[in-house]
Parts: sequence; structure tokens; C-alpha cells
Amino acid sequence: MDIKNELAVRAEAAEDVVCRFLPDVEGYQGMVFDAMQYSVTAGGKRIRPILMDETYKLFGGDAEVIEPFMAAIEMIHTYSLVHDDLPAMDNDMLRRGKPTTHAVYGEALGILTGDALLNYAFETALNAYDAPDVDVVNITSAMRILARKAGVFGMIGGQVVDVESEKKQLEMTEEKINFIYNLKTGALIEASMMIGAALAGASEDDITLVESVASKIGMAFQIQDDILDIEGDEETLGKPIGSDEKNEKATYVSFAGMEKSKEEVKRLTDEAIKELNTLPNKNEFLNELLNYLVYRDN
Ligand code: IPE
Ligand code: IPE
Ligand code: MG
Ligand code: MG
Ligand code: MG
Repeated sequence: MDIKNELAVRAEAAEDVVCRFLPDVEGYQGMVFDAMQYSVTAGGKRIRPILMDETYKLFGGDAEVIEPFMAAIEMIHTYSLVHDDLPAMDNDMLRRGKPTTHAVYGEALGILTGDALLNYAFETALNAYDAPDVDVVNITSAMRILARKAGVFGMIGGQVVDVESEKKQLEMTEEKINFIYNLKTGALIEASMMIGAALAGASEDDITLVESVASKIGMAFQIQDDILDIEGDEETLGKPIGSDEKNEKATYVSFAGMEKSKEEVKRLTDEAIKELNTLPNKNEFLNELLNYLVYRDN
């Protein structure tokens, strides 16, 4: 399988889904619609909606009820990046190969665009109830996962500890770094895969297994992100190199060293794939995608 090619096809399809749900640019508040479009359509790998859709397929899902949730997770992820780049947070000027949202629209609109994407994500996800022949219980459980994993017990919680830990590298512990990564990055990846499983009607046990797989993938994904922040190429990455060092972040790499970090990305990924393959269901593309994420260069 040519995974890069396959991934590009799916990324384009995911992007079409996300864009279909975005509001038109019109009215007095047109600026915020424009900034929402700008940040979402700037690019991005669309890993989360793809993981969601592939997990949905793994459990036999094949209906359009997944689409509002694919759009919603990418909106929430994009909002997390728009806010992550703000001057009060990582203070970065480049994202997805373009100037960051606050750099183009100003700081106030940067804040409001993030807020808008977060809120609109839930408005969008609620459209799932209007799809034909839906299972209301499955949709409600997907809504719960989305809300929980995006919030203070998920991504936001991780970002809080991440910014609080800046310039305190010596105080970092392994437990705390695991906590940060699990939440700031793991939570949305967990949500993506768990929502796919929940909407396809997977059992509670299987959703828990998917959560565990996704948690390892999330951890590996963030460690790889930290590696790329040092060894990556700005043009390929589409975001600045050296952002973590600039902000004196305690990353996994600064904590454990480069060699151990690379080993950990591979180990966590192998474990995640092994765990996923204890299920009777198979999705070859999903396996290949998880493996590919270890060696990604953007
Ligand atoms: C960036 O996520 C933020 C992290 C959690 C590391 P991605 O690497 O998925 O960013 P895009 O969506 O492709 O821009
Ligand atoms: C951020 O981690 C993860 C989020 C929840 C946005 P980083 O701050 O390392 O993400 P990048 O490198 O800016 O994409
Ligand atoms: Mg950050
Ligand atoms: Mg950042
Ligand atoms: Mg980073």
C-alpha cells in the first residue's frame, strides 16, 4: 500500500467534509467566519477525522452520521492550535505553512476565532441527530466523549499544565510529562477513535480498548512532534522549529533525551498496533496509518 498516497486521498475527503459544515462568510460578524475558514482551510494533515472514520469502518460503520463528528473534531483541534499559537501561549507566527490566525486577524480575533470554532464544533456535531436512521444512544455517547476529551479533563487540562510548567524544566517528573501529553494531545486522538467506535455501536469493552490504543498513539504523536520541533524542517512542517526551546518547555526530548524519545515513539506505536490487533475486526489502512505516524516528517 502506498500509504502517503492513500492518506492524501483521505485527507482531501476529510477536508471536504469539514469545509461543508463551515459557515458562509457574511453579515456583520463576517470577519470571524473569514478567520474560521482561514484557520481550518490553511492545511493540516486531518489525522483526527481520518482516524475517526477509519475506526468507524473498523467496527462496521458506513453511514453519514460520522460526518458531523469528523468536522467537529477538526474544528476543535484547529481551535486548540489557534489558541496554542497566541502570544500568551506559545507565541508562534507560522502554522500549517501560513501566518497564524492572530498574526493575520489580531489577538482579539484570534481568541474569538478559537472560541467560535469550539462552539461551532458542538453545533455541527448535533447535526448527527438529523441523519437518516440514527441510533440516538450512540450519538449521545459520542457527544459525551467529545465534550469530556476536549475539556478540563482532556485537552484543555493538558494545555493548562503545559503552560504552567514553562521555565520549570528542572521540576519536571515523568509522571507529570505523561499527564501533560496524555491530555493535551492524547485526549483528542482518543476522542477521534472512540467516537468512531461508539457511532458504529462498538461495545463498552471495545471502546475502552480503543481508548487505550489511542492514548499510546497520542503519546507517540506528541513525542514525535517534539522531535520534529528540533530535527524537522520548517518548510515541510509548516510551523516554526525551536518553538519549545524558545519557550523553555519541558518536553519529552528535553526530559529523556533524543535517543530514548525516538525509541519511545516506536515502542508505543508497536504496542498500540498490537493491542488494536487483538480485535477480531481488521482495517489494514488503519494499521499502516498508525505506523506511518512514527516516521512522519510533518
Ligand atoms: C499539532 O497537531 C499539535 C499537536 C497535537 C502535536 P497536528 O500535527 O495534527 O497538526 P495539523 O492538524 O496537521 O496542522
Ligand atoms: C500543542 O502542543 C498541543 C495542543 C493541544 C494544541 P504543541 O504546542 O507542541 O503543538 P505545536 O507544536 O504548536 O503544533
Ligand atoms: Mg503548546
Ligand atoms: Mg505550540
Ligand atoms: Mg510542538
